[in-house]
Amino acid sequence: MIIRRLTGADLAGLQEFYDSLTEEITYFFRPWGEATEEILRDHLASGEDGRALVWGLVSEAGEVEGHAFIRGPGTEQPSFGIGLRKRAQDQGWGRRLAEAILAEADARGFPEVHLGVNKDNPRAIALYQSLGWTIIGEIDSNCPDGSWRMVRARP
Ligand SMILES: CC(C)(COP(=O)(O)OP(=O)(O)OC[C@H]1O[C@@H](n2cnc3c(N)ncnc32)[C@H](O)[C@@H]1OP(=O)(O)O)[C@@H](O)C(=O)NCCC(=O)NCCS
Repeated sequence: MIIRRLTGADLAGLQEFYDSLTEEITYFFRPWGEATEEILRDHLASGEDGRALVWGLVSEAGEVEGHAFIRGPGTEQPSFGIGLRKRAQDQGWGRRLAEAILAEADARGFPEVHLGVNKDNPRAIALYQSLGWTIIGEIDSNCPDGSWRMVRARP
């Protein structure tokens, strides 16, 4: 597996990744209402023109197995998201992918990175806390248990 920035050349791979996600995963990870080609093309362009950090976990066969991003660098609340396919989960790849994008955020001097996470997602919450995020409040969400707002300050 390779952890690297995604570019416009990854459009088909990223589309296939989003099309493959199960309901169980999209319950927790749904950065867009629908991951249309237009949305994904703009997202990948935003990684190339500085409006976002856009990283992926890519298999040797070239399939996108995970996606992480930080949207809105330079704004008050740059926001982080991450999701992996089921077959790539629970092997440490989520942690490595998050560490890679945070290393870039820290190198670029982002003072804070924000996120929202469902309260019924203990795995993600534990991962985020171990990477330096803390709970600072709640956010409105469709999750029946509600969602936490978390922030990580640059170490
Ligand atoms: C959340 C997610 C990104 C984590 O990535 P992952 O590769 O599966 O997780 P990792 O193997 O890197 O493990 C991360 C940590 O969670 C811990 N963990 C696993 N299951 C856990 C649980 N039920 N409760 C608490 N911690 C748990 C692991 O022990 C590990 O900690 P360690 O590195 O100290 O051992 C991934 O599972 C995923 O994409 N899930 C579905 C979508 C999602 O929930 N995205 C986040 C939306 S906010």
